[in-house]
Amino acid sequence: MRLLFLGDIVGRAGRNAVIDRLPGLREQWNLDCVVINGENSAGGFGITEAICDEILSAGADAVTLGNHTWDQRETLVFIERQPRLLRPANYPPGTPGRGANLIDTRSGHRVLVVNVMGRIYMDALDDPFAAVDQALEDCPLGQVADAVIVDVHAEATSEKEAMGHYLDGRASLVVGTHTHVPTADHRVLPGGTAYMTDAGMCGDYDSVLGMQKEEPIRRFLQKTPGTRLEPAAGEGTLSGIAVETDDRTGLAIRVAAVRIGPNLEEARPRFWE
Ligand SMILES: [Fe+2]
Ligand SMILES: [Fe+2]
Repeated sequence: MRLLFLGDIVGRAGRNAVIDRLPGLREQWNLDCVVINGENSAGGFGITEAICDEILSAGADAVTLGNHTWDQRETLVFIERQPRLLRPANYPPGTPGRGANLIDTRSGHRVLVVNVMGRIYMDALDDPFAAVDQALEDCPLGQVADAVIVDVHAEATSEKEAMGHYLDGRASLVVGTHTHVPTADHRVLPGGTAYMTDAGMCGDYDSVLGMQKEEPIRRFLQKTPGTRLEPAAGEGTLSGIAVETDDRTGLAIRVAAVRIGPNLEEARPRFWE
C-alpha cells in the first residue's frame, strides 16, 4: 500500500496547501491512504466540522488531533458523528469521540488509525503505550488491518522514539506530531515499522510554529499579557512522510520525507515518481 501522513494543519495557509495540492498528489502517487493531523486547522486552535469535512473532501481518509482537540467547543458534539476524526486515545474513559478506528479507505483497504498523546511536558493523560496496545489487540496488523498508522502527538523526542521501538513490527507507521518542525530521521525500524519523530506542519513556515512571528517573539521578551496568536498567512508548505508497505505483512518497505512548498527544501518520494 501507499500511505501518506501529513503533520498539523495550521490555519488557512495549511488548509489551502492541503486543498490545493493533495488531490493531485493522491492521483499522481496513487495513494491508498492519507492521514492528516488537523489539531490547529481552525485559526490555529482546534477543528470545526466544516473544516474537517473540507480536509476529508480534499483526499484525507482520516484526521487526527492532539492537545488542541477541544479548542472549538463544537468538536465535543460533532466528533461523535465523524468516525474519521480521532482524538488522543489516552483521554480518560467517557471522553467524547474515539482514539482509534478501523478506516475503510477509498482504495478498499482497512487501515487502523490510532492517535495518542505523550505525557512529557503535556497534560497528564492515561498511559499512551497501553492505549495503543489495546487498539492493536482489537485490530492486529496483517489480520484485521491492512495497515496501522499511529500518530504520537508529543513534545519529547525520547517518548516518540520509545513508542516507535515499542511498536516496531506491529504498526506500519509510527509518526510524531505537535512540534510543527519536520525531523530528518524518517526510516524503517528493524522490525519493519516506518518511523519519523515529527512530521512537521502543513502551514506557513515563515512563522513561529505556524503563527505570526511578532507575538511569540514579544512573549519571549516580555512576560506580560499580549494579543492573541494568529496563524501566519503566507503560502503554506505540506510536510510529512510517504510510506510504501508490503501487501502481505502490512509492514513498511520504504519511506521518504515529503516537503512541498516554499521555505523548506523540497522532498518527494522519488520511488513513486
Ligand atoms: Fe499542533
Ligand atoms: Fe499539539
